[in-house]
Amino acid sequence: MPVIARFLTPDDLDKALRQDVIEGLTATPKTLPPKWFYDERGSELFEEITRLDEYYPTRRERAILVERAAEIAALTGADTLLELGAGSGEKTRLLLEALAPMRYIPVDVSGDFLAAAAEQIARDHEGLAVHAVVADYERHLDLLPTSGRRLIAFLGGTVGNMVPAERISFLSGLRATMSQGDALLLGADLVKDPGRLVRAYDDARGVTAEFNLNVLRVINGRLDADFDVTGFEHVALWDAEQEWIEMRLRSAVDQTVRIGALDLEVSFAAGEELRTEISAKFRRSRLEAELTAAGLVLDHFWTDRDGDFSLSLARPGQATPSSSV
Ligand code: AVJ
Repeated sequence: MPVIARFLTPDDLDKALRQDVIEGLTATPKTLPPKWFYDERGSELFEEITRLDEYYPTRRERAILVERAAEIAALTGADTLLELGAGSGEKTRLLLEALAPMRYIPVDVSGDFLAAAAEQIARDHEGLAVHAVVADYERHLDLLPTSGRRLIAFLGGTVGNMVPAERISFLSGLRATMSQGDALLLGADLVKDPGRLVRAYDDARGVTAEFNLNVLRVINGRLDADFDVTGFEHVALWDAEQEWIEMRLRSAVDQTVRIGALDLEVSFAAGEELRTEISAKFRRSRLEAELTAAGLVLDHFWTDRDGDFSLSLARPGQATPSSSV
């Protein structure tokens, strides 16, 4: 049976949502963090996105893992797989089969989701110790288990949801928890033809549009708000300077939304846009520079045949000067 450690309660999550909504919707321009997309319906919509013709990242990352999992196992000698944002089902299995670790530590903010996933994995892998951790990996890195020779997997390109400064502090924080012998496996989407990038975030069937609008439904349900989702349009654009995809919700009309649980009213002008996600796309040079800035050394960099997606294997660099004096 899996063991579950909870560092985050439903009440903590509720507080975080309130805080994010107050800050984000009273800011100029308005923003909301992408982590609130993923209630049950949002998670199902994301699963559907991963099967779309236009959305290549999941398939490409899986292809790299199929090709490289054995090599990753041999290179790292990991006996513990710690997965940040344990939502990648099939990819997790590929790694578990190749590494045959003693311990699997999935980390996710959603306790229900995690408990179900951990039980399934434990059932399918006899002898594997499953220690699920309910935590927010942007806030609770210090609390993650450090025993064993760990491979820390952060897959799917989710690192792209952070802006560069957030990435450096996240990677530095992660580095600080790593011992010599630990390794980081980082999945990151790559810069490519903007047309393909935009189609991946604005698919013909409108699944991504539904996913984007779902954040408004989440706020309606959890914070007693009255967003009319038909009053907003999905926008996906490529920011060539920042090299990221931006998803926005554009208000079709002048409208005022009431968020009951916050006793807050928010007005949108016709055409006003609310930013809901950035999804940064990388070049090898940028990844290497950011890993280095965080005290990590890029050891291996793999892509799929088409060069669409990347997996980086990094290890802790030498101790920083301050700690070796
Ligand atoms: C789960 C964050 C990797 O950025 O591509 C998919 C989320 N957003 N379509 C991504 C997402 C719109 C996805 N990540």
